[in-house]
Amino acid sequence: MDLLSLARAVKDRAQEPFTDLAAMARIVADPRLPLLLVLNRTLFTPLYRASFLAAAAGSGVLRCMASRPCDLESLAEHLGTRPEDRQRLRAWLDIGVRLGELDRREGCYRLKSRTAKALAQVANDAVAAALEELLRFHVPALRDAPRMLKDGSRFELSDQDGLVIARSSLVVRGFVEDAVARTLPRTTPVRLLEVGCGSGTYVRYAAGLNPRLTALAVDLQAEVAEQTAKNMAQWGLADRVETRQGDLRTLDLQPQFDVVTLHNNIYYFPQEERAEVLARARSFLAPGGTLLVTSSCRGSSTLGLEVLNLWFEYAGFGGPLPREDELLDQLREAGFDGVRATRALPGQAFRAFVGTNSATGPVGSLPVRTATTPTNAEEAAS
Ligand SMILES: C[S@@+](CC[C@H](N)C(=O)[O-])C[C@H]1O[C@@H](n2cnc3c(N)ncnc32)[C@H](O)[C@@H]1O
Repeated sequence: MDLLSLARAVKDRAQEPFTDLAAMARIVADPRLPLLLVLNRTLFTPLYRASFLAAAAGSGVLRCMASRPCDLESLAEHLGTRPEDRQRLRAWLDIGVRLGELDRREGCYRLKSRTAKALAQVANDAVAAALEELLRFHVPALRDAPRMLKDGSRFELSDQDGLVIARSSLVVRGFVEDAVARTLPRTTPVRLLEVGCGSGTYVRYAAGLNPRLTALAVDLQAEVAEQTAKNMAQWGLADRVETRQGDLRTLDLQPQFDVVTLHNNIYYFPQEERAEVLARARSFLAPGGTLLVTSSCRGSSTLGLEVLNLWFEYAGFGGPLPREDELLDQLREAGFDGVRATRALPGQAFRAFVGTNSATGPVGSLPVRTATTPTNAEEAAS
């Protein structure tokens, strides 16, 4: 090496630390960096956590780990993962470890965070399903709204997963069961029609309250009705509850029911059709029978309900959550008497709407008031 090259090499080496420091200073002074760091903490990581937990809960992975630590093989078997995809399963699980939701020791994965442990519990299934609903359906409503406005597209019922919704709607179980308990006659034989029965949980609850109750449980979505039928068999109710796939709007039934219930589904019908839909529900009621509609209503400060409302605003079927006064008017328009709304807790968005079918004639004629004989519902209330 000649003298000149040697001098250059020494100079370069001596300058290197200064160059690094200058580059670091430039990077750190980048005005976008603080924003990125804040977003990483407040948005990105919670979103990653929520997505991971929703998928781990929905796929049953959390439930598997709740009973014992699981190795990759047993989780792969549970998920039906092909041998060539085991490495990809490991990559996903390792992100769960990185997020602090899972732990990996001695080749086994186990639950680590309190949230993961809570979501793994059977008793919290509705909450786990609500998290899945939020990520799979609420997030697309927020994310896709501008595009949908542009191309005019709408959500369809098939964009929902009926089985997930049937589980997540049980987050309001306490409210619905309270309304059923207030409405249902306990001692006389009762014929119940439940429309949009979802999991069938409330038919089961009603059957538990009244041992002489028999029911027809109907749901529009075939896979939901199928699951309801399985649930009824598992709950030992198959001989008391008939389950059918069907649409309230086209059901062909006699006015044979003492009670008709619609829980958490009035917003599956367009606002302008609701009075007609309710009149149809009335047509299945025997004279003196009771309709019970339960629903979250608009005007609450619950953000989740507002986003649910948004989803239905963007749907090609259904409509917004009802307003209390609006639904009361529609019940009256449908020919119900003694129409009222109650709520279990003050300040809550959830309401129970009750109306009586006093009419003895066919629906479409003016309701005939025969209010002197107590209805089954009045018996329940007394
Ligand atoms: C949000 S889920 C509620 C399920 C259940 N009632 C509950 O509260 O857990 C609404 C259900 O109503 C059903 N549904 C919607 N429109 C219907 C219709 N026209 N006839 C029968 N069922 C309907 C849907 O298929 C869905 O399962």
